[in-house]
Amino acid sequence: MKGHWFWGCLFDLIRDRSGFLIEGHAQLGDVFFARALVRDLLCVRDPAVVNAINVTYWADFYKPDYIKAMWKPFLGNGLVPNDGESWKRQHKLIMPGFHKKRVDAYAPTMVDFTERMLDRWNEGDCKDMRVELNALALEVVACTLFDIDIGTEDSKTIREAIGEVSEILVADADKMIPRPDWWPTAENRRKKRAITKIEEIIRRVHEDRLTSQEDRGDLFSHMVFVEDEQGCMSDKQLRDEAMTLIFAGHETTAHALTWTWYLLAKNPNKVAKMREELDRVLGGCRPEVDDLPNLPYLEMVVKESLRLLPSVWAYARQAQRDLVIEGYEIKKGQTVTISHIAMGRNPKYYDHPEEFRPERWTREFERSLPRGAYTPFAGGPRVCLGKQFAMMEMRMILATLLQHVEPNVPEGFEPDFVTELSMHPGKRGMPATVRFRKTAPA
Ligand code: HEM
Repeated sequence: MKGHWFWGCLFDLIRDRSGFLIEGHAQLGDVFFARALVRDLLCVRDPAVVNAINVTYWADFYKPDYIKAMWKPFLGNGLVPNDGESWKRQHKLIMPGFHKKRVDAYAPTMVDFTERMLDRWNEGDCKDMRVELNALALEVVACTLFDIDIGTEDSKTIREAIGEVSEILVADADKMIPRPDWWPTAENRRKKRAITKIEEIIRRVHEDRLTSQEDRGDLFSHMVFVEDEQGCMSDKQLRDEAMTLIFAGHETTAHALTWTWYLLAKNPNKVAKMREELDRVLGGCRPEVDDLPNLPYLEMVVKESLRLLPSVWAYARQAQRDLVIEGYEIKKGQTVTISHIAMGRNPKYYDHPEEFRPERWTREFERSLPRGAYTPFAGGPRVCLGKQFAMMEMRMILATLLQHVEPNVPEGFEPDFVTELSMHPGKRGMPATVRFRKTAPA
């Protein structure tokens, strides 16, 4: 894609990042080059190339330098921006904390907090579902990963601080010549203040754990006490991992749930199908983790929502050496954008890609999809560590919500699609009116 002789596609990209990828791939094919000022981008939605990058050549691709620089003040060297030997060590230390048995044990907490949110709601209340679901996902992460009932004050502090940091980081990343962190701009000061607020909460929990020397079975305890031949994690690394998990573990899920709410509000016939399944299987009881295999339609809804309106709309890698993948020459230092959102709109793999059709996610359909054609959680060794956690959380929360309330948005409402670190509906939010279900579940 050529763009302006000097700026390249910079302003098209800033104006509408996901639209740029969707349109770019629709017009130019599954792999295309674009330039944003001095940065050359290779945009990819060819499943074979995506799979090669995620799986076959994963060790030859790191997170891009400009993204690492953007993350640094916030996530430091946490798992998301980390690479190489340091990533391998951290991944090995943290991974046991995401063991299936441990994650399954979090299911009742996910339902408890959803019920607590429903208890706070009254018929006819106006809510912004983005705010509600962010608060809920944050409470779930705080409780399951840090064993703290975060309370409304801390929750609000973290939510607002993360919202602020996210907005500033993306604005920084769009500046081709970023200002260094020590530069005393109003934005840098605001970013620093927001980060300090979250750090204070992490420090409080860390000190508490060190004083009590108690492993409470949550992921943070695991990270405080786990050791390998090099000893335990440094305080700085622990801070970076905690920050990473708070961020990666709540906004992504909250926004994925916000989009699912929207898609369900627009498709009442799909809500009816979900209800039929939920009522038949749960008979009005709280969902439990053992119910999930008996709720296939619920899983199809989640998968379809992550295809059509994914919260992580794209992810990027940078080649560490010259490579040729599927005939495409990739030079050392080249940034590759894996356009997950554009992949989901590829008519080669998805019939009527613009439509919300959970029914497409049959076993046969999944088997027929080439590897690399559906990667909402990335893939290969750098796959999302919280994938099972998120898939369970989304289903537990949706099963609880759908049993009690009607998904809705105001008549004619169309949201904005703001692509910051994750895709969300921006300042206008996702307005809804609390409407409790008239007919109680059987
Ligand atoms: C719907 C929800 C979620 C989505 C769509 C999602 C998606 C992703 C994606 C695409 C990546 C790869 C990013 C990249 O390579 O640049 C990633 C990485 C990661 N995610 Fe998630 N995520 C979700 C929820 C979670 C949750 C709930 C947690 C933790 C509890 C989590 C923890 C992580 C971590 C630690 C990584 C880094 C893994 C590594 O590189 O070793 N995520 N996620």
